[in-house]
Amino acid sequence: MSNFRTIWTTEDRYVEVIDQRMLPHEFVVVKLETYEDAVEAIKDMVVRGAPLIGATAAYGVYLAVREMIEEELDPSFLDHAFTALRASRPTAVNLFWALDKMREALDSADNFLETAWEMAGRIVDEDIETCRMIGDHGLPIIEEISKRKNGDVVNILTHCNAGMLGCIEWGTITSPIYQAAQKGIKVHVWVDETRPRNQGSNLTCYELGRHEIPHTLIVDNTGGHLMQHGMVDMVIVGTDRTTREGDVANKIGTYLKALAAKDNDIPFYVALPSTTLDMSIRSGLTEIPIEERNQDEVRYFNGKNSKGEMDAVLICPETTQAANYGFDVTPARLVTSLITERGVCDASEAGLLSLFPEYA
Ligand code: MRU
Repeated sequence: MSNFRTIWTTEDRYVEVIDQRMLPHEFVVVKLETYEDAVEAIKDMVVRGAPLIGATAAYGVYLAVREMIEEELDPSFLDHAFTALRASRPTAVNLFWALDKMREALDSADNFLETAWEMAGRIVDEDIETCRMIGDHGLPIIEEISKRKNGDVVNILTHCNAGMLGCIEWGTITSPIYQAAQKGIKVHVWVDETRPRNQGSNLTCYELGRHEIPHTLIVDNTGGHLMQHGMVDMVIVGTDRTTREGDVANKIGTYLKALAAKDNDIPFYVALPSTTLDMSIRSGLTEIPIEERNQDEVRYFNGKNSKGEMDAVLICPETTQAANYGFDVTPARLVTSLITERGVCDASEAGLLSLFPEYA
């Protein structure tokens, strides 16, 4: 659907990714040649977004296997690689899912290198198809609102970036939007800036622009006002981990949008691949680890200065301490529906089991 992916392999069988820290100002490609490169790329948010974190970790395992074989290292090297990859970011469950998949494949492998290469490739390919299907299931929701409004513009609010840049292609929340636009349905997206890392202004605006989707950037506190004035028809966000009972961890600030949506009777949807489900836990509030990142992400604002250089500007007194929680949890009761690759369901154990009975 698009002319680029977020992660791909090279002829010499290494891995390349887009440096998302530089978008939208520069399109920089980073080559990952060791598992440490993959760990750093995830930690520093060169790559980010739950599915892409998982895919990068999978290729990180492949790179570790390659290093181990080429440099005739002890098998404990691979264990160290798994440990480091597991510790790279705590909240997105896709990371752990992908690493478990790679471990399982390697446990029964005859040819370690080929197995790791193929499994990482499969994880990437499956994510593309999964996201496309999320679009198939989310599209009727947008179509329905469009019909109700007699073909008038459907105004959609989103937070962070759960687009193709967080995945491989299509994205989760963007897949229904791109499919709606392809069908000629009029859509417009309100994009939350998403402080402190600005995934909304930097990434969502960038990719919506490339796909020619009308959109407007807003500061994070604007959504409630728009909702009160009938300027939002639906909210749709991604997730880093969704529990068995339908609680949703997503980028910090998502919860406040869900509260405002509830107060204004606006449907609040969460789009997710099943790789983001954590059916081993029930309560999002007590069981999902919430990442805390460096306070300087809050204290400084990053962007391009008037000389055209990437720059960081201090936005508080030198001595001010900041707290930087990466995610919050939206309780299932505030979620209208979950949109998955198998269909749309209630954010509840019963809803999830109706689509994913294998977890019963
Ligand atoms: O900190 P990030 O940028 O990795 O956070 C990303 C999100 O919160 C996304 O909404 C989520 O990972 C879903 S991406 C399809």
